[in-house]
Amino acid sequence: MKLVVFGANGPTGQLLTKQALAEGHAVTAVTRHPEAFPLRDARLRVLCGDVFDRLSVEEAVAGQDAVLSTLGVPYSRKPITLYSQGTAHIVWAMNRYGVRRLVCVSSSGVDPHPELLDRMLLLGRRHLQIALLGYVAHYNQHRPHRTLGQAPPLGAVPPPAPAANVRILRVDRLGGLIHEYIQVA
Ligand SMILES: NC(=O)c1ccc[n+]([C@@H]2O[C@H](COP(=O)([O-])OP(=O)(O)OC[C@H]3O[C@@H](n4cnc5c(N)ncnc54)[C@H](OP(=O)(O)O)[C@@H]3O)[C@@H](O)[C@H]2O)c1
Repeated sequence: MKLVVFGANGPTGQLLTKQALAEGHAVTAVTRHPEAFPLRDARLRVLCGDVFDRLSVEEAVAGQDAVLSTLGVPYSRKPITLYSQGTAHIVWAMNRYGVRRLVCVSSSGVDPHPELLDRMLLLGRRHLQIALLGYVAHYNQHRPHRTLGQAPPLGAVPPPAPAANVRILRVDRLGGLIHEYIQVA
C-alpha cells in the first residue's frame, strides 16, 4: 500500500515508518524538518510539510491508500490546536482525494471524559496524593464501569428513594473536575 505518515519524525512515527517499510509498503514521511529525518529507503519519500498548511497536507495525501498520524506536540499550558486543526486538514485532503483509511494516535488530553486526571495541573507531591485518593474513591465507589452490570467495583449506587422530600446534593471531587450526586432526605 501507499501510506503517508504525519508526525513521522517523532519516536512513534519513526518506529511506524520503519515497520511500514519492512512490511513492503511505500511510505511518505511528512516532517517540518526533512533534513533531520534519519531514515532512508528506496520506498521512502520524505516530504517537507506542516499540517497547519493545508496545501502541504494536500500534497502529502494525494494518491495515498491510507493515512497514519502520530502527530504530537510538547506539553504546554497554551491551547493546543495541532490535533484538531491538523486532523481537520488531513480529513479535508482525504475527502478531496478519495482516501478512505485514517489511523491516528493522539494525546489522552483530547478525550472528552472529565474523569481524567491529565486535565489537572498537579502542584506537588501532596497535591498528587490528595488527587489520587479522590480519584480512586470516585473510581471504586461511584463511577459506573463498562460492564453488563454497570456498577462500580464497591457496589451499585442504591436506587432512588420514592419519597418526595428527597433532595439531590452535588459533591465536587478533584476541585470540581468530577461531580458526584447523592440523595439527602
Ligand atoms: N511518546 C509517548 O509515550 C506517548 C504516549 C501516549 C500517547 N502518545 C501520543 O502519540 C503521538 C506521538 O507521540 P511521539 O512522542 O512519538 O511524537 P512527538 O514527538 O510528540 O511528535 C511527533 C511529531 O509530530 C510532528 N509535528 C508536530 N507539529 C507538526 C506540524 N504542525 N506539522 C507536521 N508535523 C508536526 C513533529 O515532527 P517535526 O518536528 O519533524 O515536524 C514531531 O516529531 C502523540 O500524539 C502523543 O500524544 C505518545
